[in-house]
Amino acid sequence: MSDERTKAIIGDVVEALRGVLRKHEVTFAEYRAGFMHMAKTQEAGELPMLIDVFLNSTVVEIENATRTGSKAAIQGPYFVPDAPFVEGQLAIRDQDMDLPKMLMRGRVTDQSGAPVAGAVIDLWHSTPEGTYSGIPRHGDLDKKYYRGKIKTDADGKYECISILPVPYQIPNKGPTGMLLETYMGWHSWRPAHIHYWIHADGKRDLISQAYFEGGDYVDDDCCEGVGNEFIVPEAYENGMRLMEVDFVLDEASSPKPARVAEPAE
Ligand SMILES: [Fe+2]
Repeated sequence: MSDERTKAIIGDVVEALRGVLRKHEVTFAEYRAGFMHMAKTQEAGELPMLIDVFLNSTVVEIENATRTGSKAAIQGPYFVPDAPFVEGQLAIRDQDMDLPKMLMRGRVTDQSGAPVAGAVIDLWHSTPEGTYSGIPRHGDLDKKYYRGKIKTDADGKYECISILPVPYQIPNKGPTGMLLETYMGWHSWRPAHIHYWIHADGKRDLISQAYFEGGDYVDDDCCEGVGNEFIVPEAYENGMRLMEVDFVLDEASSPKPARVAEPAE
């Protein structure tokens, strides 16, 4: 991003905010209350989450305007970059072995329909408690559970078994939750979902999510992250919920806004 671009964007942000102050004739007391709430949000380490809740889906929307293959989704804060490679199944805790399973499978192709072999797919999803492994403030469950990397075969196909994720609340006990729930009357729930990050040589990376049709909060995601593309109808195979999702990758030469992996919280 050039300095000129930064200057133009920040200048417009400030002007837009000034417009809001004028529109609502905000008083000095209200301005200070808002200022102090932002300071508390920063102190609680929730500023990145607050910004993501309001704005991440818009940046994804802008990115998707340049995609002709599958659309991207929000990444969320729980990606861990060095998850292990797995063979056909994510690691399941002993205590979760009897829980319902899901079979994630599908095919990765390019825009001509040709298979993309050897694509690496990072998969991650919640525990049955609605937390994520490898995240210290989620109890620091070993990151080998409910996340891993798999590869597509020569036909572009992938397949991996795990337990079902659940809907979960984004942290709602601090200043972000107070703003969303108390002052704005929102809720803080996300529907159950699976995260995907697909990398393949010569192709544009794709970060996506899949959802369970009919599941709680699919139509009312607090992060506005649900696109229509990957809401998967209910079907079962060998007693497992089938999550069949095919991905179409854009070429790497197509416009590619930078997407940087951030360390997990
Ligand atoms: Fe998530």
